[in-house]
Amino acid sequence: MVLPTYIPRFACRSFLIPGVRTDTGSTALATTANLSNRMDPLEELTKDAPDRIESATTIAELDVIEAEVVGRRSPVAEARRELGRIEDPVERGAMGKAINDIAVDLTSRIDAKRGAIEVEEVNSNLAADRVDVTLRGRVPDRGTHHIIQQTIDEIVDIFVGLGYQMVQGPEAETDFYNFTALNIPKTHPTRYESDTLYLDYGEGDEEVLLRTHTSPMQARHMEEHEPPVYIVVPGKVFRADAVDATHLPVFHQIEGLAVDDDITFADLKGTLAEFTRQFFGSDTRVKFIPHYFPFTEPSAEMHVYTQGKWIELIGCGMVNPAVFEHVGYDPQALSGFAFGMGADRMAMVRHGITDLRTMIDPDVRTLEQYR
Ligand code: DAH
Repeated sequence: MVLPTYIPRFACRSFLIPGVRTDTGSTALATTANLSNRMDPLEELTKDAPDRIESATTIAELDVIEAEVVGRRSPVAEARRELGRIEDPVERGAMGKAINDIAVDLTSRIDAKRGAIEVEEVNSNLAADRVDVTLRGRVPDRGTHHIIQQTIDEIVDIFVGLGYQMVQGPEAETDFYNFTALNIPKTHPTRYESDTLYLDYGEGDEEVLLRTHTSPMQARHMEEHEPPVYIVVPGKVFRADAVDATHLPVFHQIEGLAVDDDITFADLKGTLAEFTRQFFGSDTRVKFIPHYFPFTEPSAEMHVYTQGKWIELIGCGMVNPAVFEHVGYDPQALSGFAFGMGADRMAMVRHGITDLRTMIDPDVRTLEQYR
């Protein structure tokens, strides 16, 4: 918009219009003389205001400029207030129109500028908030399951695939489930404090200890469930052993139990051989060597031929009828097999680790290899 070019000079002198008495009562002549070297306020305004408006960068800045340029104390308002003092109606009309033209022009410049600043602010907010969806996100450091847990998961998965169910039992166990129900005699050395960590010396079977194997879940599960039973039981076990390359006081086992009406040693061999082939590879050989466990009869140790040698890996056998009697199962009508293996040992054999202490090594350089 173009400023009105016609601004009567006298009109622009505001409270100093010639021939008009000012508030102070000074005469026009005297006033004119005093002001002849002063810049006419409206003229100055029309010169400066458009640039000032244009240079505003924020709404707040523009508000200040607006107040100064067309607000109540602006030269425009001041000039309007002085209008009444012009006696000649024609002159007053011309003067009024000139002031109005200036006010309209400046107001429309301010409005236009306000619109422009608002658009800019919206745009810059949008730019600041912009999300580049093509940028790769920050990827948090990713942990992994410990190699023992990975091994347990894999073993359990294989048995689940063969129709077994995973169950878990308490780590603090009673003497009854850990020993008695498993046909382990009162005099057996494994009950000594040199082997087993006791928590509470109760009466007889009520003694509480840290389970020395996951086998107690055999009895616990059979007590609560009717046959058939096909379970695997992973978990932590505890023994009073000092740490060395082949012993840890805390390690992991996976127990297995199958009970049905017609289970034979052939089922035991077939099941464990199939497991071994899935875990170590389809051409892995196994052999069963007679052994002794109080809770199985007959008992065996399964050896696996891997990495050029035979390794004893799994204790197993046919469930001892004495165990069935402890849990109220009929030994005449049922048969079953049980087995137990060390998860830490399975992981070591699988990965060629020779020192059991590697399993509790907290060094991230060790742990990172489990990814
Ligand atoms: N509980 C035995 C141990 O800790 C392992 C074991 C051997 C479990 C033979 C069984 C089994 O179920 O039949 O050494």
